[in-house]
Amino acid sequence: MKVIGIRITITAALPYANGPLHLGHIRSTYLPADIYARYQRLAGNDAVYICASDEHGTPIVAAAEKEKKKPEEFVKYYHERDKQEFEKLGFSMDIFHRTSSDENREMAQHFFLNLKNKNLVYEKEVEQAYCEKCKRFLPDRFVIGRCPYCDADGQYSDYCDVCGKALAAGELLEPRCSSCGSKPVAKKSRHYFFKLSQLSPKLEKWLKGNKELQSEVVNYLLNWIKDGLKDWDISRDMKWGVPIPGESSKVLYVWFDAPIGYVSSTVAWANKNGKNWEDYWKRDCRVVHFIGKDIVYHHYLFWSAMLMEVGEGFKPPDAIPTRGYLNLQGRKFSKSKNWFVSLEDYLPAFPADYLRYYVTTITPHSVQDADFYWKDFQEKVNNELVACIGNFIHRTLVLINKSCNSQIPKPAKLDEGEEELLRLITERKISVGRRINSFDLKGGLEEINSLASEFNRYLSEREPWKEKDMQKLGNCLYMCSRAVTALAVLLSPYLPFSSEKLLSQLGIDEKVTWEHVDKELLTPGKKIAAAKPLFEKVSDESIKKQEEKLKK
Ligand code: 2FM
Ligand code: ZN
Repeated sequence: MKVIGIRITITAALPYANGPLHLGHIRSTYLPADIYARYQRLAGNDAVYICASDEHGTPIVAAAEKEKKKPEEFVKYYHERDKQEFEKLGFSMDIFHRTSSDENREMAQHFFLNLKNKNLVYEKEVEQAYCEKCKRFLPDRFVIGRCPYCDADGQYSDYCDVCGKALAAGELLEPRCSSCGSKPVAKKSRHYFFKLSQLSPKLEKWLKGNKELQSEVVNYLLNWIKDGLKDWDISRDMKWGVPIPGESSKVLYVWFDAPIGYVSSTVAWANKNGKNWEDYWKRDCRVVHFIGKDIVYHHYLFWSAMLMEVGEGFKPPDAIPTRGYLNLQGRKFSKSKNWFVSLEDYLPAFPADYLRYYVTTITPHSVQDADFYWKDFQEKVNNELVACIGNFIHRTLVLINKSCNSQIPKPAKLDEGEEELLRLITERKISVGRRINSFDLKGGLEEINSLASEFNRYLSEREPWKEKDMQKLGNCLYMCSRAVTALAVLLSPYLPFSSEKLLSQLGIDEKVTWEHVDKELLTPGKKIAAAKPLFEKVSDESIKKQEEKLKK
């Protein structure tokens, strides 16, 4: 078997199957993971992009109950919907699986028993809220009440959505059962705990030693470790979830089985594709988790500790690229206040690649928050994508159509400036690749933009439309054709739909790789089709329409 590149397992935080996809998560997680995965495949690495819907937990049960649906039925709807929206955005997941799958149940139970056998899981009686009317325990989101900090009512027992404070058990005022409204009583229950506290030294060593982790994140995690980590309650008294082996009415906490979903979805993918899943988690391979900063604790501490301790060849993640929140025109996204952009709004109005472009330009590799402004979206698309990249490509192809009978000209000896421009393409192939490898996707796109600007300038200076010397004209348009194909390849991780459209317009049907950035993909003499613009300006009216939707 031919071994290609390195194996890279790329995951994106699993979306909860309880509501439509959020633009913030697309920016922080799914899009960066997709750009990275697409690049790795082009670079010849054996990269798999793994994702699944996160289908357990109390928010899902509570939401399903509200709609008078069974959890199974409820999550199926969002699983299908997310899958379709991901496809429309061009996210190239190799599998979009489910945490309610058999593979995940088996793998989560396996992790649980393994850690229990190692004495890293113990049982302890704890007091839990219990509803005597509904005859059930009320974990996490099953209790609502008033926030002791900001007085907001209708808040869950673990978190206030209004002031953003995490609430400790018993802090919520006027607690009541979210289903029937009765006042809960305290009742003892035996729970399972993972000994996270004793793993602090190991986690600290790993956090300090892994130089691929973002230092800004590591620094605050080290502070949490200094304050002491608490053992982690990994069981819940409920029916929906992964059953705890040997128990009749307890399931694993959703945050125990969700990250295991990364592994179990790899198992499902491998089984379908004749691969060995262990090659992608245990042996020579890189494991990269893309996440948003709201779930740092769960990935850097819980999940990494689980991977470290489970043994069997598992290892902690190699990298956990973490990005910040997205606001909308200066305010927090809020569905209830009608301050949000859904994909249902976006996708019929604009191409997916415009969103991919804009969102990348506002997303550095850091936990810094960003702001989505419709006006900014319009400016970036019109001034950069259309006016620079699109304009250069279109001008070149129209000139080849007109002046060269649609045939790629044969160059004579290139002058020094032209030789240098060809070297610039090679340099960008290397530097953009390096940027993407180090998760600086925004920087990579900026370098592609500046390459297009250089060639735009070259084209404007040479004015081939005025050129009488056919050889000079041929050289210039040959050079520009090289830049056009370079851009088609360089842009393909970022703007897959446009890149594909361009390659097909150019009649390039071979499977391109990153190596093709600086190769002669269009040989002299080859005929190209009539040029069609790749991008179109975003009109003022279309932006106004979107802005008005927010005001309603
Ligand atoms: O925060 C969330 O949206 C979770 N559903 C993410 C889970 S990521 C992973 F661990 F599964
Ligand atoms: Zn009740």
